Amino acid sequence: MSRLIAPGRPRDMWIVAISRGVTIAVFCSGLAVVALAQDKSETVSAVRCGSIERIYQLSPRLYCGSRPSTAEDFAELARLGIHWIVSVDGIPPDVDAARTAGLRYIHIPLDYGSIETDQTARLIRAVEAAPGPVYIHCHHGKYRGPAAAAQTAGVLEAWPRERVAAWLSQAGLIPEEYPDLYASAIEPVKPDRATLDAIDPALLPDRAPVPDLVERMVEIDALWMELKEIAPDAVGEPALARQLGEQFRESARREESRRYGPDLIRSLETAAKAAFAVEAAWRDRQPAAAEREAVARSCVECHRAYRNRDRATR
Ligand code: HEC
Repeated sequence: MSRLIAPGRPRDMWIVAISRGVTIAVFCSGLAVVALAQDKSETVSAVRCGSIERIYQLSPRLYCGSRPSTAEDFAELARLGIHWIVSVDGIPPDVDAARTAGLRYIHIPLDYGSIETDQTARLIRAVEAAPGPVYIHCHHGKYRGPAAAAQTAGVLEAWPRERVAAWLSQAGLIPEEYPDLYASAIEPVKPDRATLDAIDPALLPDRAPVPDLVERMVEIDALWMELKEIAPDAVGEPALARQLGEQFRESARREESRRYGPDLIRSLETAAKAAFAVEAAWRDRQPAAAEREAVARSCVECHRAYRNRDRATR
């Protein structure tokens, strides 16, 4: 357990060890540290780090959590001893903020289906070549980041399958919702040495291109997060709901969306209508609880049908 207390960590940092459903909080004031870990081999510890959510330390060289968003977050990551950050999110990383804190970004955007073998190879190469601990993140730190961290732990730290499964269940990645992502997280195709050696870590990009629809969804997600801050019985700014509706409508017009077929286009148009209904209600100074629920349903239903598994198996 003492390995969790890395040198240089701020004194007020707390650590929580979660082992087989038992949560133990450990407060370290710089002197006394009392730990009651049940089974060290199954323990994944949560760490507090700025405004970052769901940040866990999986091994001395591997951390995983949500997207760092402030200068302080990056400074805290550096203080944890992190050197490189691997983003598997669709949002382009804030490379400048990371650099200011002395951190390097590597961007390997993943979707919610299987992790491709070349993505696994880049991920493993990045972590093994890093000069110190690595922080892997997606957006919320719930699914893609934990899946990438699971692959890394399986391949580089030789975690047995049960331990990987325990980690994924702790993170909240369930096979029913994300069957292909889960399958590749728990049983990664291990890249061979020649494949890894063919990747020059210096050339791994800090910003990788993402599909057009992902860019749209990133915008949609940001607007939706803002909208969700408004209480269901309150009246929000109509312009916010309008922007959301326009993003859906624009997504429906995009050439790339057509490749998913006419049903996806129709669902995007339905989502746009739901967002415009929120706008209309707010313009009339009415709360829009039912209309908002329709938008929320559109996210969940469409992701279930089109996002959360491989295209080939849909
Ligand atoms: C009609 C279908 C549809 C609707 C409605 C929809 N999405 Fe998506 N969304 C997708 C698809 C398809 C993808 C995967 C795109 C890809 O990986 O190529 C996606 C991806 C995403 C992503 C992942 C972006 C990344 O980093 O890779 C987020 C976040 C997201 N959607 C948020 C939302 C939110 C929030 C809503 C509702 C307010 C929503 N979406 C509504 C189809 C939809």
